Amino acid sequence: MIPEITTFNDYIKQWDEASRDPAGYFEKIARSFTWKKNWEKTLEFDLKEGHIAWFKGGFLNITENCLDRHLAERGGQPALIWEPNDPREKNCVLTYRQLWSQVCRMASGLKKLGVKKGDRVCIYLPMIPEAAVAMLACARLGAVHSVVFAGFSPTALADRIRDADCSVLITADGFSRGDKSVPLKRLADEALQVCPSVRHVVVVSRSQPYAIQSAREVGWTDLLERGEETFPAEPMEAEDPFFILYTSGSTGKPKGVLHTCGGYMVWAGFTLRNVFQTRPGEIFFCTADVGWVTGHTYGLYGPLLNGLTTVFFEGVPTWPHPGRLWEIVEKYGAQVLYTAPTAIRALEMLGSEIPDRYAMPSLRVLGSVGEPINTDAWLWYHRHVGKERCPIVDTWWQTETGGILISTLAGVTPSVPAWATLPLPGVQPVLLDEEGREVPNEAAHTQGYLCLKSPWPGMMRSVFGSHQRFVDTYLRRFPGYYFTGDGALRNAQGHYRIIGRVDDVVNVSGHRIGTGEVEDALNMHDLVTESAVVGMPHPVKGEALHAFVLCPPSQDVSQGLKKELQDLVAQKIGRFAVPEKIFIVPGLPKTRSGKIMRRILRKILAGERDLGDTTSLLDPAVVETIRQTVWANQ
Ligand code: PRX
Repeated sequence: MIPEITTFNDYIKQWDEASRDPAGYFEKIARSFTWKKNWEKTLEFDLKEGHIAWFKGGFLNITENCLDRHLAERGGQPALIWEPNDPREKNCVLTYRQLWSQVCRMASGLKKLGVKKGDRVCIYLPMIPEAAVAMLACARLGAVHSVVFAGFSPTALADRIRDADCSVLITADGFSRGDKSVPLKRLADEALQVCPSVRHVVVVSRSQPYAIQSAREVGWTDLLERGEETFPAEPMEAEDPFFILYTSGSTGKPKGVLHTCGGYMVWAGFTLRNVFQTRPGEIFFCTADVGWVTGHTYGLYGPLLNGLTTVFFEGVPTWPHPGRLWEIVEKYGAQVLYTAPTAIRALEMLGSEIPDRYAMPSLRVLGSVGEPINTDAWLWYHRHVGKERCPIVDTWWQTETGGILISTLAGVTPSVPAWATLPLPGVQPVLLDEEGREVPNEAAHTQGYLCLKSPWPGMMRSVFGSHQRFVDTYLRRFPGYYFTGDGALRNAQGHYRIIGRVDDVVNVSGHRIGTGEVEDALNMHDLVTESAVVGMPHPVKGEALHAFVLCPPSQDVSQGLKKELQDLVAQKIGRFAVPEKIFIVPGLPKTRSGKIMRRILRKILAGERDLGDTTSLLDPAVVETIRQTVWANQ
């Protein structure tokens, strides 16, 4: 079993030990996993160069840890319970043995298609059991999966397939979320027109029986049937690439965050066990989609590494009724519910009587992830969902960190509304000032740029295809530190509270969106000269996008343009990235050096009269015209 931290003193002791001797500490943790060959060196790193290696020389396969090693004891236990979008449809339960068997067959089927270790496979699927099988099958044969959230548009999918040079795409004919249906295969086909690297397309029949349309297509079930019954897990070196997951940053092009095999496995297993204090056999309900990192680490790999049952939910919290999440908790007797503040706020607005109708006695721990959780939402979650019995873990982490870095350990360390609280063992956060000096921990509250001073096993290793981009984005701003892009507060007890992004990244309903990406999409319109997108607080979504768009003065700008721009963003990125408001303005607030002062745009949107220092503006008069436009269109 993965080692556990059981008391507050134990936590302090282990955190100290891991800080003094990270290699020694994680050696002990890593030994609780199954390795095919022991590692030669536990840790090697140079943070300035972006060289990080954990468990070098060790060989493993994560699927043996997720599946094979549980077969003897819990082969008949559910590994995955799938709850469909429509509750009238039959659910599906896969035991550890059944999941293992499907993974073997699919790995073997993919191998027969020519997929080998190191090849990239793109997975563009809704939340169905096949998504889990596809990911694990790739892992079993050593192929690198790149899961693309099924809400992304064909253009975004094509960009990701091309960047990772994927040779196979696994997708589905279509699916529904709530009352909306998505013709997924049609979207995939559109993307594939510009993706010559894709040699095979595996299609799951989700909505209806799917008829193969071309020589490169193969049906999911056919491929499973073609696969052998057993499939030996490929030995993976600890630092071999494991998966790529694209995420947004401050520049337009999304980055392929690269994780490796050994460190990610250890971090996923260790953090889940300790943050949620789980016992094998428990039911773990993480509402995140596998298209995001939370779905990878705590929807799939973490629960299976710990011998839990993971609940895969295809639908949305409010359809066909607003008690859907609570109903699922009740139906399956989940011990852990892990969701996002945006969902909590949306459900809170629908009324406390809804969760109050469900007893949910099985619940033991509640989790929050993806954005800061405000005190109100925290208290509501505590009272109406946890019935004041369940500790809340506010877990701070990122796609790049592989797993949770700062969080309460349920029932072990303190849980404080709106505070992520304390770092896990092996995590050494620091707050830096503008000049990169560590802010000392003397004052009652200190604030700064949240950075990590040493590597932890789950840390990303590179940006796929551009190691320099990894170094430039995360390691250059403060040499010797990993820069998270977040600002944080720390109190005298050493607890952290995450304030939010300090770069051009906005968290909309827990979806991380680079404003640069949206601007790039808007700028593609013939009538748009330039645009600036900013994030503003939103009562449910956390933040919402607002776009300021500049068109040539001679143009007769019609209302239709806003709609065209919205469609353009939906087409280039996805519906979830469409700005809430679009303002067509005659100028943007720019410095003499041409930089857009987004701070001013945010202040105008907030209705603030005092815009701070505007002396560096090239044309101060532009501020007034933007203000008029905003007022006229609010
Ligand atoms: O700003 C932080 C916010 O989400 C960002 C990471 O987004 P992503 O890579 O999409 O991963 C989301 C799921 C881990 C962070 O830089 N964030 C994440 N968790 C929290 C949070 N902000 C405040 N509190 C959290 N618990």
